[in-house]
Parts: sequence; C-alpha cells; structure tokens
Amino acid sequence: MRLIAANWKMNKTVSETEDYIKKFLKLVGKLEDREVLLCPPFTSLYVAGKLLKDTPVKLGAQNCFYEKSGAFTGEVSLPMLKELGCSYVIVGHSERRRIFCESDEVINKKLVACLEEGIRPILCVGERIEDREAGMTFKVVETQIRLALSGIEKYTDSVDIAYEPVWAIGTGVPATPEDAVEVHRFIKEVLKDLNPGSEGRTRVLYGGSVKPENASEFMKHEEIEGLLVGGASLDPESFAKIVNSF
Ligand code: 13P
Repeated sequence: MRLIAANWKMNKTVSETEDYIKKFLKLVGKLEDREVLLCPPFTSLYVAGKLLKDTPVKLGAQNCFYEKSGAFTGEVSLPMLKELGCSYVIVGHSERRRIFCESDEVINKKLVACLEEGIRPILCVGERIEDREAGMTFKVVETQIRLALSGIEKYTDSVDIAYEPVWAIGTGVPATPEDAVEVHRFIKEVLKDLNPGSEGRTRVLYGGSVKPENASEFMKHEEIEGLLVGGASLDPESFAKIVNSF
C-alpha cells in the first residue's frame, strides 16, 4: 500500500495539533487503499495519539535517539514513542544531517534501534545541488543507503526510504517526476543488491516541494510508492487534497 506522510517539522502547538487533526479526519475517508501518516513534533505526539486512536491515520515521530533510556539530555527514546502510539519514525532527514550534524553512523544506530523496537523507520536520503551538478546523485544516494543499512541489510523489508533531494526541500522547486523515477529505480536496484531475497516491501517515497497541484503527477508512476510532505502538510485541507489526489 502506498504511504502518504506529513512531516510537520518544528510547527504546531498542542492546541493547533488538536484543531488540525479534528479537521483532517473529516476530510479523509476510510483510507482502505493507502496508508496515511502524521509526524507532528514530540510535544504534540501525546494528544495526536489520543485523537488518532481507532482511526485509519497513523502516527509517527520526526526523530528518535537510539538508547532506550539514560543520561541523554534532550533526547527521546523509542519505547517512549511507542507508548504514545507511534508506529513510524523519520530517520536521517537532511535537516538533521545538515543542521544537527547527524552522521551516517548515528543514523545507522537509530535504524538498528527502530528495528529492535518494532517501529518502522523512514530513512531519508538525497543529494545536494552541488552533488547533482557534479553528476554524483547516484553515488551520494547509494552511499547514504549502504552506510545507513550497514549490518541490517537482511531487514530492508522493515524499512521505508524517502528520496528527498535537498535542493527540492522547501524551495517550491520539486524534482521532475521523471528525475524522481530514475532515482527511485536506482534505489530499488541498490536494495536488491543489499538483500537479494527481499520481497521488495521497502517503499520508496518522494519528498521535496510536493503540493496538491503536483502530487498526482508523482503518483502516476508506479515507482513512486508514496510521498513525504513538509510545508503543504501544515494545512489540513491541503494535505487532505494530496492524500486524495490519486
Ligand atoms: P517540503 O515539502 O516543505 O519541501 O519539505 C519536504 C520534506 O523535507 C519532508 O520531509
């Protein structure tokens, strides 16, 4: 089933989250043929979990730490997220890599912890504009995937991947669907190489300036198995349009 996910990033208070979810649930139907996921900030997860309980909309976090508990000031663990009803965690978003200096090694540890805890990670990968201009897109994406999945290659079926070219995030300039398809196919090849027996249960999502106006252009392609939406997911009507666009 294709996955349409909202990454709210550092937006929305608890009361704004309540308003959003009440509106959003009225705008989406039973969602029998697609999976829909909201990833609010940590502070909103408790109330979001209560409102989404017994609905078809899933809950996820935008980040996690890899230890279960202990002296890690400011961090949030996977058992904490699980108790709030999170079934997904976004790992290795380019903003975490760039602004918070998250390394491939840390991302790998987070993925291992997610698999141990039974929370499905959405691993984010994507090249910067200078990589693309240097013809390095495939190399960068492959390296990010291989390092992130190092030692857990056998479990690729329990992971989803979001291809988010850094230059398309928050710029209003998405990749063309054709460029995205090319990278998605490549990612599938890398996954096949890593885990030859795999049933292909890893979905490859596209993220970067997805809007209600362009969502269906991406979803026309079978290689695009979902979307990870930032800015356009902040308004319930706009995100519902994206969810209902295919
Ligand atoms: P935008 O949709 O705002 O470009 O953000 C994409 C993103 O980073 C989702 O994780």
